[in-house]
Amino acid sequence: MAETRNARITVNGKDLDLAVLTPTVGPECVDIRKLYGQAGVFTFDPGFTSTASCESAITYIDGDQGELWYRGYPIDQLAEKSHYLEVCYLLLNGELPDSAQLAQFENIITRHTMVHEQMHRFFTGFRRDAHPMATMVAVVGAMSAFYHDSTDINDEKQREIASHRLIAKLPTIAAMAYKYSIGQPFVYPKNDLDYASNFLNMCFSVPAEEYRVDPALARAMDRIFTLHADHEQNASTSTVRLAGSSGANPFACIAAGIACLWGPAHGGANQAALEMLQQIGSVDRIPEFIARAKDKDDPFRLMGFGHRVYKNFDPRAKIMKESADEVLGILGVENNPTLQVAKELERIALEDEYFISKKLYPNVDFYSGIILSAMGFPTSMFTPIFALSRTVGWISQWKEMLGDPDSKIGRPRQLYVGSGRRDYVDVAQR
Ligand code: SDX
Repeated sequence: MAETRNARITVNGKDLDLAVLTPTVGPECVDIRKLYGQAGVFTFDPGFTSTASCESAITYIDGDQGELWYRGYPIDQLAEKSHYLEVCYLLLNGELPDSAQLAQFENIITRHTMVHEQMHRFFTGFRRDAHPMATMVAVVGAMSAFYHDSTDINDEKQREIASHRLIAKLPTIAAMAYKYSIGQPFVYPKNDLDYASNFLNMCFSVPAEEYRVDPALARAMDRIFTLHADHEQNASTSTVRLAGSSGANPFACIAAGIACLWGPAHGGANQAALEMLQQIGSVDRIPEFIARAKDKDDPFRLMGFGHRVYKNFDPRAKIMKESADEVLGILGVENNPTLQVAKELERIALEDEYFISKKLYPNVDFYSGIILSAMGFPTSMFTPIFALSRTVGWISQWKEMLGDPDSKIGRPRQLYVGSGRRDYVDVAQR
């Protein structure tokens, strides 16, 4: 971390020189680690809109330019030329693999895709109509009960095995959550299928007949995994880092990340966005919903729109929009009314002063649901698919944090606005 110059602030009449840290690219950071010790004051930043929580070399986002890089490689190049397991290797290890490294990594992941047979019984404890995210949080958290031979975070080999198990088993668990919700038998992974094809097979094949995975849909599925793989210090990644900072095992940390991702302001937006588009139903109802989104007294927001960092197009949304046209064309549903509503809603919103002034653009969740729905997934499976895609990002960030010698338990402070000190009063005197 390079220091170049100081920032000077004056607190209660005292001048303080704070180092300014220089990134490879992007905003510089004022190092405030000594602030409380030197000036007895905290900084105040609910929602962390101006706070860097860590140093990271994994993902870079330029919100103004609409840029997203995984280890320096732009997302549009990776989406077009790479594939998800290669991106997993890149995020985990920092460099693209050579052919031998890639073959070995794919072989390792392939051979970790089955879950402990007793984990099948976990699902029977849930109602069939339980949301798949609820079962995923529970089952992933329970992995630490089955794989305690890879929970010692101080053992690098165990950290690596746990990382591989999570990347390999999340699709299996997500598919099991789906099959359980529709009353169909679980489908075991097949080692002769690639990662995306395996997931589609585990979700859509049934014992009663042969199921052939459409390679074009498998490619689209794989691209969706890549687009969701990592995204800097978003809410769920920060949750995983904070859980990991206490020394919690990797399975518990990822379960915490899944729980956070579920929120409709975060990963849950893909389900909420499609349900919103279906609620709008036709282009002539769009103005009614645009008006509601602009109405301060109406809690309604355009789901899949806006972003804390992107004040330009989310580059993932652009790729997803192109992929939607391609997938719906393959499936012969080009005139999908929901896609027509989405495109018209985007056009109208991007010409509207409210959205322009607040720099609100479609984000990764705006189009993804249209593709997933066309593929046959119910809306309840959209966020589980986001979670299985993001697992590699979460675990890469978790590994990076554990590898940082300066890493310590995360423990923010507060601006206390409660009561001053007061003595207890017996109930008879209240
Ligand atoms: C993801 O962080 C990440 O990187 C997340 C993610 C990832 O890959 O990990 O990219 C994935 O979570 C994408 C975001 C998915 N969420 C949604 O689509 C839900 C709808 N969008 C929002 O609720 C909102 O835009 C957030 C939560 C995404 C961002 O919220 P911020 O940065 O805290 O911004 P804000 O809520 O303060 O909004 C700024 C203004 C407000 O108006 P004012 O109070 O300034 O007058 O913009 C308005 C908001 O009311 N606004 C919207 C809006 N989003 C923001 N108005 C209408 N519709 C919207 N969608």
